[in-house]
Amino acid sequence: MSAYSSAAASPNDLEAFFMPFTPNRAFKAKPRLLSRSKDMHYYTPEGRAVLDATAGLWCANAGHNRDPIVEAIQHQAAEMDFAPPFQYGHPKAFAVAARIAALAPGDLDHVFLCNSGSEAGDSALKIALAYHATTGNATRTRLIGRERGYHGVGFGGISVGGMSPNRKMFGSLLPGVDHLPHTYNREKQAFSKGEPEWGAERADALENLVALHDASTIAAVIVEPMAGSTGAIPAPVGYLKRLRELCDKYGILLIFDEVITGFGRLGYAFAAERYGVVPDMITFAKGVTSGAVPMGGVLVRKHIYDAFVKSDAPVIDLFHGYTYSAHPLACAASLATLDLYREEGLFERARALEPIWADAFHSLRSKPGVLDIRTVGLVGAVDFESRADGVGRRAYEGMERLFHDEGMMVRTAGDTFAVSPPLIVSESQMGEIVEKIGRTLDAIF
Ligand SMILES: Cc1ncc(COP(=O)(O)O)c(C=O)c1O
Repeated sequence: MSAYSSAAASPNDLEAFFMPFTPNRAFKAKPRLLSRSKDMHYYTPEGRAVLDATAGLWCANAGHNRDPIVEAIQHQAAEMDFAPPFQYGHPKAFAVAARIAALAPGDLDHVFLCNSGSEAGDSALKIALAYHATTGNATRTRLIGRERGYHGVGFGGISVGGMSPNRKMFGSLLPGVDHLPHTYNREKQAFSKGEPEWGAERADALENLVALHDASTIAAVIVEPMAGSTGAIPAPVGYLKRLRELCDKYGILLIFDEVITGFGRLGYAFAAERYGVVPDMITFAKGVTSGAVPMGGVLVRKHIYDAFVKSDAPVIDLFHGYTYSAHPLACAASLATLDLYREEGLFERARALEPIWADAFHSLRSKPGVLDIRTVGLVGAVDFESRADGVGRRAYEGMERLFHDEGMMVRTAGDTFAVSPPLIVSESQMGEIVEKIGRTLDAIF
């Protein structure tokens, strides 16, 4: 084994790593360790295969350790490790921006690059504020998010986000933020395949916020086309169009957070295309490199770019950026990933598989304790009854069983299992995912 390889190494001590979004003690008492990955699988340090039903963390859309991506990263690492993105550039940064812009609808034709979905969210909110300031609308400072929304963990993201555990311990957050209501209603939407019929009218709540705050104070609205982290809640039919109309009516910028829905998850490069709606900005991350190197970004419409990039040649256009914006390794990984998506038709593949996936996943309806099932694109979520000792405990037990007994990874959100396999998933692997979840539901009730 090479001195650099950790594939077979087990750590001696798990104590030092302060794990994110994890119960550290419980994990360290009974770890779920992964040390290798290929295509649809992870492998534990002992070499046990684990079916990846979640594309890592909604990111490995092309599958894991695909040869062209690995080679592109290796080549780039040998050629140039880093180039400053402020006042200097490197060719792959421009190439990757052009490729991403070409995938986006309408005139979303400029790309700001960063390193994560959280940075993308905060960057989009800052660009919205600065856009209004620079176009003579400096009173437009209010940011509108949505209940049950997730936009990462920066202060901007948690402020517009709508998940109380992510907010409640972190002080007063950004001032001047308000929220739209979420779009989930189990009574009216349970067991919908794709976008639920009920719920477009929830967009009209923006009228109430305009009445309360006045449009002249509102900079932007940010929503996920499918709320991922609170259990995969697809937008109701017509909801996003309605939001677009209202934002146009009141001069408010509309931002889609496509950190999960971008790069094929809903069968299109961006969900904006699926819904026939062009937002003013799209945030992305994860699938842009299939998770191989951290990267995120913000697509902006031409009028936004033009507002900053004026002809009178300032020394700097936008006072925002990251040391690792357009990192050469990330750009190389992204170019190879985008090639793979195109060559293998993976977005179209997800679209074609959606009805088959939906039928397979909805077969879980007969399992014990199931309260709702949602599917859209290559995403599935199943809600089930909580245990008396607290919300999320039954799902945690299920996640442990799935890993140790069934050899599969899922995401949990409260008492929901959410799955989002790599877009290379085979039909038999879809069946395997459903079977493993089904057996687990039998076991935890
Ligand atoms: C919709 C959405 N926005 C933002 C983020 C944050 O991305 P990151 O964890 O890369 O900062 C996530 C992460 O899951 C997400 O689902």
